Amino acid sequence: MHHGQGQIAETFWKTEKAAARILCAPELIPLPGQYLLASDASDAPLPVPVFSAGFSADGFLAAPPLPLAWTPGARLQLRGPLGRGFEIPNNARRVALIAFDDSPTRLLSLLLLALQQNAAVTLLCDSALPDLPSEVEVQPLAALADIFAWADYAAFDAARESLSELKSRLGLVKQLKAGDEAQILIRAPMPCGGLAECGVCALTVQHHWKMICKDGPVFDLRAMWD
Ligand code: FES
Repeated sequence: MHHGQGQIAETFWKTEKAAARILCAPELIPLPGQYLLASDASDAPLPVPVFSAGFSADGFLAAPPLPLAWTPGARLQLRGPLGRGFEIPNNARRVALIAFDDSPTRLLSLLLLALQQNAAVTLLCDSALPDLPSEVEVQPLAALADIFAWADYAAFDAARESLSELKSRLGLVKQLKAGDEAQILIRAPMPCGGLAECGVCALTVQHHWKMICKDGPVFDLRAMWD
């Protein structure tokens, strides 16, 4: 984990792909599913968790939402990368990316890694889509059961408040075949990133308290509901 400075290079408010391009040192760039805590010089009381939506030569593309005050040239204080990110298996060949209740942007950098290892990728999403590589198949969330059965690795993005709906809607864990893997990025406010143990991001997993900010935000799906 590092501390450093970043700068907003450009913003993309009218695209679905990323909110901004942030310049920063390579060691600060979050891997897919990890995040930075970022704050500007304003009086905003709390730092903002920032996830990667892709790569750039001198920093990374940041997923929305970001504060509107972060305009090009704004300087940021950064801490991270924080938390556990996605770990796509090297042998994954059929990858499902599932944006359960929001935009798929936090899954886009993982999508690029999956394509780099020649996996077939299907993105499930009911919200607006960014421009995607032509080889990515897009399906609505209604196809979830079929795509989950097809995939040998699945990555979800869902809010903490959506977990019970996800579980009851899918009964997913019982469908996991031996050897298949599934992970879930759980979104929640993360004001301290584990520093102050504020508890805002708390989650119960199998009757134990977990902190999404440092035990996650990516969790093994099988462990969530076994
Ligand atoms: S954000 Fe404070 S403990 Fe997780």
